[in-house]
Amino acid sequence: MKIWTEAYLDVISEDLEPILKRTKGVLVGFNVNIDKIIEITPEVINTVISKQKYQINLQEKRASKIVRSIEDFFYFLFQSLKEGRADEYLIVSNQISMWIERNFSVKDVKIGGQAGIIANLLKKINVNQILLSLPIFNKELMKLLDSSILVVSETGERLSLEEVRNIDEHESNPIIHYVFEFTEGRYSFGDKIVECKRSNRFIISFDLVNSILKIRDSFYNFSIDNIRNFSLAIVSGFHLVHPEVHSQKTIDMIIKPARDLFQKWKKLNPDITIHFEIAATNDKDLRKKIIDTILPFVDSIGLNEQELLDFIEIIDPTTYLLLKGNLSSVNLFKGIRKISSKFPHLRIHLHYLGYYLTLSPPISKELVSRRKKSLLLASLFAAETADKKVITSKEDILNVQILVSSKGMNELHKLEAYLNEEYNKISIFAEEGWFTTPSFTLVSIPTIMVNSPKQLVGLGDTISSISVLFDNI
Ligand code: GLC
Repeated sequence: MKIWTEAYLDVISEDLEPILKRTKGVLVGFNVNIDKIIEITPEVINTVISKQKYQINLQEKRASKIVRSIEDFFYFLFQSLKEGRADEYLIVSNQISMWIERNFSVKDVKIGGQAGIIANLLKKINVNQILLSLPIFNKELMKLLDSSILVVSETGERLSLEEVRNIDEHESNPIIHYVFEFTEGRYSFGDKIVECKRSNRFIISFDLVNSILKIRDSFYNFSIDNIRNFSLAIVSGFHLVHPEVHSQKTIDMIIKPARDLFQKWKKLNPDITIHFEIAATNDKDLRKKIIDTILPFVDSIGLNEQELLDFIEIIDPTTYLLLKGNLSSVNLFKGIRKISSKFPHLRIHLHYLGYYLTLSPPISKELVSRRKKSLLLASLFAAETADKKVITSKEDILNVQILVSSKGMNELHKLEAYLNEEYNKISIFAEEGWFTTPSFTLVSIPTIMVNSPKQLVGLGDTISSISVLFDNI
């Protein structure tokens, strides 16, 4: 434990400015939206349910993932609470959006979507050039973005970089995500009771923009022409793709332009790192397509344990059952190892309560120590975000109280025992934070503990983006 406390203190005392100065530009895409945060507790649900004039049908299974009625809303919410799962559904009518606004109280309005959150965060810590793929130029949305983020603007035939603050257009398409943050507890939906065992969030999106993974032609073309000025691209938003509401298009048709873009970027700039943030992807067909079409073309992925379960369910059903029964460090390692066996080129970063694991092809000792440092920084920024809700500058991490997770440390010790036995080695992995074989290198750290987190949404995005950023400079 002491060794990790010292490692954290060392990282905090380092001046990040010269490191950050070395970054070239960072591209960030593709999902940006407005998040309206709503807190739900058993009392809130009680009040809203008691206003309903009829008995809500929670039995009948829904074939579609679209929320078309208030009944559907309660049905999906019930399922999410039951599993403590981070689900996300779409609404397509203004009526339900208005019903939500009338019946729940919005406690916060913030930038949402992996791309929006990450672009704002990287700007706050002084990364110089952030080019964001902003799907629509909507005024309310742009107000929530750091005003010096760059977007591509189009005047006639001419494409140029503009700071968000200088964009004068306004497109009014709905782009709101209602984020219902729920806590553990006993929720009653009339005569149906559900015991929720895990705090999480349930999202209802009124968003026909990100559901088609919109990339403006201007961004598309500009990024290709200028890709040599960028060293890192952080991409996400594929989880929102919803062919059901865009009936003329298949999943393939929607995600292919992004896949082609990655290939073009790589061809013109082989040094660029493309990191893909997975995010909660409900639709199994979509997950299959992402595995076949996107994973071969990116360099790095970030995911949490739930997302790992969702993807491993398709890649390796036996490991899925093992993991589902027990989310131990050994099983989580086995899960990411299955992904890396299928996609050996990938850097895989799994973040879990108490510790992070990154698995990649074998790397040098120098890169191991850089990677370890990048994970420590990610944990510090995550702890600060969980505690204060928002990062205002890179100096914020100076406030973090260094309490290393003992639960995380225990899990790393268990994983150490497994690795040593399985690979016939003697390694002090848990203390040193790395383990290497001829086919992979695993780098891990125990995280900082935050006792009562005030913010959960966007934590994963913070962890993944900070770590991949510092891993690359
Ligand atoms: C998902 C949601 C978005 C939220 C983000 C946070 O992408 O669609 O509303 O801000 O997750 O991680």
